Amino acid sequence: VVMTALLLGMLGLALLGTLTMLFFRQLKVDLRTLQTRAMDIVNGYRDAPLPISRQDEVGQLMGAINDMASALDTRENELMIERQKYFHQEKMAAIGTLAAGVAHEIGNPIAAIAGIAQEMKERRNAECAGCRPDLIHVQTQRIAAITREISQFASHQTVEAQLLDLNGLLRTTSSLMRYDQRLRRVVLKFNLDDQLPAIYGVADQLTQVIMNLLVNAMDALQDVVDRAPVITIGTRVQGEQVALSIEDNGSGIDSKTLTRVFEAFFTTKAVGHGTGLGLSLCYSIMQKNGGSISLDSTLGAGSCARVLFSTTEAAYKGTNLL
Ligand SMILES: Nc1ncnc2c1ncn2[C@@H]1O[C@H](COP(=O)(O)OP(=O)(O)OP(=O)(O)O)[C@@H](O)[C@H]1O
Ligand SMILES: [Mg+2]
Repeated sequence: VVMTALLLGMLGLALLGTLTMLFFRQLKVDLRTLQTRAMDIVNGYRDAPLPISRQDEVGQLMGAINDMASALDTRENELMIERQKYFHQEKMAAIGTLAAGVAHEIGNPIAAIAGIAQEMKERRNAECAGCRPDLIHVQTQRIAAITREISQFASHQTVEAQLLDLNGLLRTTSSLMRYDQRLRRVVLKFNLDDQLPAIYGVADQLTQVIMNLLVNAMDALQDVVDRAPVITIGTRVQGEQVALSIEDNGSGIDSKTLTRVFEAFFTTKAVGHGTGLGLSLCYSIMQKNGGSISLDSTLGAGSCARVLFSTTEAAYKGTNLL
């Protein structure tokens, strides 16, 4: 009996020893896996999470490492989107600055040509009877009007929030965009409330919202052949806010696509024609400026973008879009 008990005891001990050894061996393997994964994450690994093979503290550590990797991934994506949006915004601002520079440079030769034409007209030089200086005059007037519009447009570029005339912003922005080839066939209709109160926001940013919405409407009208392409721009008071609607009778989109339009990088346009950042940027801008934006659309019939602007400083949340 004593022998059996001793044997059993030894067997038990041996079993315990083996189990302990196996436990520590597995622990070593799991800790090494964790260590490798932690290093991989440091080096940029963001793919499938570690399978959680244990219920103990090591298992919890595995879960925590997985959570950390996915949080890092989300944050990195957010940062990338913000960086791209910032670039988009900078690009638009650069266009304004460039336009102002061009307008300024063109201004001087135009003034000179106009002066010469004027003098020719006044002198009525016999030698120049067929020269028609009046035509030079008319054409220079036209160019001068264009540069005036560009200057007006570029003068919106200020980073400070202030009270603004929305109808004025709409007029100058759309008159400049009229020179875009894509708008050539399009009828622009204005339904502006001339009693509109001032809105509060950053002119440069709100101009970008208007430009983005007009470009989207313009793009939606590109393939419309069975009806006259029309964009209707309307403003009115809505409670404490001011409402803007930019409506087109273009291609429209289905309800499934509509749910995604404010996502960064979502686009239905061909590569090189859209980055999918326009509406996402408009959304951030309107949030920061204490307003909101939404889009309605019917496939095959058209779309309407609605923007609500704040009329007071209270809702304004700062210029930083990040
Ligand atoms: N007026 C509209 N009519 C039809 N579809 C629209 C209209 N406005 C937006 N969309 C849809 O929403 C998508 C996202 O618009 P968004 O302005 O964010 O990006 P984009 O125009 O494709 O590219 P980007 O503005 O960056 O050049 C568009 O690709 C289009 O499918
Ligand atoms: Mg767009």
